[in-house]
Amino acid sequence: TWDIVPQAPPDSIFKLTAAYQADPYPQKVNLGVGAYRDDDNKPWVLPVVRKASHILLSDPTLHHEYLPITGLPEFVSGAARLILGDDSPALADDRVASVQTISGTGANHLAALFLSKYYQFDGERVVYLSDPTWVNHFAIFENVGIKQRTYPYYDSKTIGLDFDGFLAALQSAPGRSVFLVHACAHNPTGVDPTEEQWETIAQAFIAKKHYAIFDSAYQGFASGDLDRDAKAIRYFVRRGVPMLVCQSFAKNAGLYGERVGALHLIAPNKETATRVRSQLSVLQRSEISNPPSYGARVIALILGNPELFEEWKADIRTMADRIIDMRKRLHSLLTNELRTPGNWDHIVNQIGMFSFTGISTAQSKALIDDAHVYLTSNGRISMAGLNSKNLRYFAEALDRVVRT
Ligand code: LMR
Repeated sequence: TWDIVPQAPPDSIFKLTAAYQADPYPQKVNLGVGAYRDDDNKPWVLPVVRKASHILLSDPTLHHEYLPITGLPEFVSGAARLILGDDSPALADDRVASVQTISGTGANHLAALFLSKYYQFDGERVVYLSDPTWVNHFAIFENVGIKQRTYPYYDSKTIGLDFDGFLAALQSAPGRSVFLVHACAHNPTGVDPTEEQWETIAQAFIAKKHYAIFDSAYQGFASGDLDRDAKAIRYFVRRGVPMLVCQSFAKNAGLYGERVGALHLIAPNKETATRVRSQLSVLQRSEISNPPSYGARVIALILGNPELFEEWKADIRTMADRIIDMRKRLHSLLTNELRTPGNWDHIVNQIGMFSFTGISTAQSKALIDDAHVYLTSNGRISMAGLNSKNLRYFAEALDRVVRT
């Protein structure tokens, strides 16, 4: 019966984790998946999450009933305030339709599904994705019958933003096109527009009446500051760009496996938001019935308690600072000590979890095959996989592949 089912290739990111785990080489390094590690290469349970979990689990009234279909109300409203800001005009007008989702991937999926049903595409059903983008974006839109096209984003010559190319794509796309943008700490490049560039980008959205999907998977990771990392989103809301936000707590709360996220659709008015929420609820019911409760309860507790919230912000800075430190040390090793050919300033200029090294597919493969350093074939490295013990080993391995 299933003879027609072809064998699928393994996932391009998670196959690296499996290969790393199976590799007996003692100095192996995993720079594949974007997951934070401490300086001992261990997953880090944020102290504030440990504390909130403890409070939760010692509550004798805690039960395991279903959450509402749209999620834990205090989580959903707290998450909306966190990303849109306490002073958000959209929240003041009560025109945000928010739903708890299965982390950022689930938010992207629910958004894509909703758009596939209700967005009035003026022609082709297509979403514009940055070139490059998180590889899963393609599959998510493919699944709901929305074609994917890419817009210029990364300039391999400058290892920076192709701002002119991005802007030209916004200007030449048919009106009312759907563009997905990364809110901050662009995955995989670590290259973000500046504040002024975001303003120009917003202007282009407004001029062409484009729809913006903000994917926010790294709030807090770009600058170490939750508010600063939400600036582009809040600016777009203030300018009235039609948009939605996909929000993940996987990285900034270290809740990867708990699947905590939310989708926020900013509607033009309260009445529209109410209708949109009702349809998101219908879609959610058929897909997952109700979202999982544990992670949402942890986040709701942290967001609702000023003391815990301050602790969370400090934990985020701990992660962001360690990554920034690794960037500086890697840059210094390559530039000052090993004198690796080429310019490596982008290592310190890029932000967030990832660095796009600029090395070729062949060089990336050589790092895996010859040095047991696991990274995606596009040359992306997860900075969080580097630590004081493996940094030199990695820098020397990178130096070798660049020289050969
Ligand atoms: C990544 O890009 O490594 C992360 O976002 C993890 C994932 O789901 O791919």
